[in-house]
Amino acid sequence: MNPFKFGTIVENEFFTDRKEECQMLKQKLDSENHIVLISPRRFGKSSLVQKVLSEQNRP
Ligand SMILES: Nc1ncnc2c1ncn2[C@@H]1O[C@H](COP(=O)(O)OP(=O)(O)OP(=O)(O)O)[C@@H](O)[C@H]1O
Ligand SMILES: [Mg+2]
Repeated sequence: MNPFKFGTIVENEFFTDRKEECQMLKQKLDSENHIVLISPRRFGKSSLVQKVLSEQNRP
């Protein structure tokens, strides 16, 4: 079985690393700041946001 998943948002065991980015994003949300994520396509922005929001219990 292919251990990688490509083309959609990745969650759970398919989501790797991004520990510093998760921490940074949580801090920004906690401080009620606005944040804009900028990167080339398919760098993992949506997956990162989804992971942090799912752990924060907020919409
Ligand atoms: N944390 C991660 N761990 C493993 N693979 C990842 C991770 N983040 C992204 N990927 C890989 O990159 C692909 C694109 O991720 P994602 O859709 O989150 O990126 P994106 O920056 O939002 O893309 P787009 O610019 O098209 O909106 C995923 O399908 C997956 O293969
Ligand atoms: Mg995206």
